[in-house]
Amino acid sequence: MAENPLNTKSEADGFATLSVEGKSYDFPVIRGVAGDKAFDIKDLRARTGYVTLDEGFGNTASCESKITYIDGERGKLFYRGIPIEQLAENSTFIETAYLVIYGHLPSRRQMSDFSQRVLRNAYLHESMMHFFDGGFPFSSHPMAILSALLNSLGCYYPNMATNEREHDLEHFDDAAALLLSKVRTIVAMSYRMKNGLPLIYPKRDLGYSQNFLHMMFSEPYHEYYPHDDITKALDLILLLHADHEQNCSTSTVRMVASSGANLFASVSAGVCALWGPLHGGANTQVIKMLEEIHRSGDDGTKAIEAAKSGKRRLMGFGHRIYKTYDPRSVILKEAAKRVLRVVKSDDPILDIAQRLADKARDDDYFIERNLYPNVDFYSGIIMKAIGMPTDMFTAMFAIGRMPGWIAHWKEVAERVKGRITRPRQIYQGEMGASYTPPFDD
Ligand code: CMC
Repeated sequence: MAENPLNTKSEADGFATLSVEGKSYDFPVIRGVAGDKAFDIKDLRARTGYVTLDEGFGNTASCESKITYIDGERGKLFYRGIPIEQLAENSTFIETAYLVIYGHLPSRRQMSDFSQRVLRNAYLHESMMHFFDGGFPFSSHPMAILSALLNSLGCYYPNMATNEREHDLEHFDDAAALLLSKVRTIVAMSYRMKNGLPLIYPKRDLGYSQNFLHMMFSEPYHEYYPHDDITKALDLILLLHADHEQNCSTSTVRMVASSGANLFASVSAGVCALWGPLHGGANTQVIKMLEEIHRSGDDGTKAIEAAKSGKRRLMGFGHRIYKTYDPRSVILKEAAKRVLRVVKSDDPILDIAQRLADKARDDDYFIERNLYPNVDFYSGIIMKAIGMPTDMFTAMFAIGRMPGWIAHWKEVAERVKGRITRPRQIYQGEMGASYTPPFDD
């Protein structure tokens, strides 16, 4: 098994004293390498009889991790210590996926082996293709298809999904490459199926994002050759979504993994968590909002005023963690400009988006509250401009987040003394009830 320094217990850096019912207890203070501070309360209940209540986990670090660091105050995001801006400038989604999963940038040989492995796995098992031929109704949501098919990979490749930790880790490299590759094919196939289009197979000579666009938009009689700026923008969207600390879906993947479940089952659960509108669904909401503004005949002015008077929220603005700016949106804003130039779209929705961003930038309400367009705003605009249907947006997010989910599964699986995640609760229900036989009502 690969060496993992997280298997060593973190050193205490001082103690915090808690006073409960007249008694004092010392708990170790743990410091992260970037200065995060935590009380280690592992044995709180055993020593004091108390647990902590922190709904939404806003004050709870569920793990120690070496994958991603966010400095929300300064608007910085790092994968494995490398600033996201450097990766956006110099790397690709697939190289960044390697970095996120394995903890270091690949050598040329490692990169070539990894890319080949991903490429070899681009096709779906032929009997899986039947799911797209009457297996799912046309009306199925792509996220439901994705979650079901990712989990079913364990049926097609049982040797990689035994739920025996040591064994699954031995096959990790194959399972990781297979997932990265097939998630893209499944998403593209679900689009083709939903729209009654012939299924287009991946090609050996195309890069990751180009192959995705080919499977989405080529026709048997007409090959789709995307402009480089479009391929690059899509690759950037995926790269910028590769990981984002302990969000809802990633924590879900870690929780499922903590029970010993295999990689396919764990990431399938991540897809379900991502589906919700409060998480991966926000990019879809951006376009819905812009369409609604357009339908009402507003050029964005009324929407801004409604937001200022607290009557509405502007979807795609603001962020819980980034308090200066979202570094991902700064990068995507430039990519969006390039894409809009290429597609020369006359879509009025995109004009409204531009106007909203401009108006908000110059308005004191938005300036004082640090409300700037976030990653969902610009990724929504780019995807809309390149012809991606809105109901595919969250599935695109899932393709991008796959390296992060895989890396977090690995981190959990490699912890020799890792414990199953099993939170406590404070029971507030009925007490002292007793069974009575059914009665007529
Ligand atoms: N439009 C208008 N006003 C806003 C908005 C918005 N989008 N977001 C926050 N505000 C105002 C809010 O009304 C409050 O004003 P006041 O101080 O006068 O009461 C102030 O800004 C602070 O708001 P908050 O609710 O305390 O901010 P938060 O950090 O809890 O919320 C947020 C963060 C992302 C949930 C919120 O900004 C929001 O709802 N944005 C729209 C939804 C969205 O785009 N979500 C995707 C976020 S990025 C996803 C990712 O990273 O994965």
